Amino acid sequence: MKDIQNIVILTGAGVSAESGVATFRGPDGLWEGHRVEDVATPEAFARDPALVQNFYDERRAKLKTVEPNAAHQALARLDEQWPGDLLLVTQNVDDLHDRAGSERLLHMHGELNSAWCRLCDGRSPFDGRMAADPACPRCDHHGYLRPDIVWFGEMPYQMERIERALAQCDLFVSIGTSGAVYPAAGFVQTARYRGARTLEMNLDPSEGSFHFHESRMGRAGGLVPAWVEEVLRDI
Ligand code: APR
Repeated sequence: MKDIQNIVILTGAGVSAESGVATFRGPDGLWEGHRVEDVATPEAFARDPALVQNFYDERRAKLKTVEPNAAHQALARLDEQWPGDLLLVTQNVDDLHDRAGSERLLHMHGELNSAWCRLCDGRSPFDGRMAADPACPRCDHHGYLRPDIVWFGEMPYQMERIERALAQCDLFVSIGTSGAVYPAAGFVQTARYRGARTLEMNLDPSEGSFHFHESRMGRAGGLVPAWVEEVLRDI
């Protein structure tokens, strides 16, 4: 790892699976019993706001019952000790990387614990129930809060910062993501094209597995701490 300075890490639902948070694409293709199009699109929210609010309220309440696992903790340790640039880009809307202590962290698909007011356009920390129609903590109006989650058809957050980090990284690592959703699924190609080494850690090969220099298959809770150990041993 002596030739590595700048690291970009992408995580997906698989990194939180061992904490008890459901992944999106289960064997039945459903996300907690729902088709993704029925709960994770602006159209679904316009059609049936109560269903969508209840769905995310349940996911938000669930966060209070789960804890970061060994993979989140190892990545926080890497963040703390890595002397070069590091950016952890997560597709996850849970707060487990935050609670584990990662600081150089970006939630590209938004966060369950954040509310977005469609009236004042403000974002506020939020850990309650949106289905109860609370007032926006910023503008005090009712009826306008939505989950601060990037739905299908919407633009992920901070893409310019991510693209810059990908262009400058020497190592790109993807953990626990199926590689089914763009633009995140294309990060490996961008990083590799710019000369980075690329590593994937996942339970089974992702859709873009063949783009990686190296693939390690197994549970994130075992693979990630071992990899972090390897990286930190060499600095
Ligand atoms: N360790 C490592 N990988 C695991 C584990 C585990 N313990 N458990 C499951 N996985 C792997 C699965 O094999 C799968 O490849 O994690 C991946 C999870 O894939 P998805 O459920 O598709 O989740 P993700 O890739 O994060 O989804 C991307 O899709 O619905 C949207 O916006 C949503 O951010 C989400 C995006």
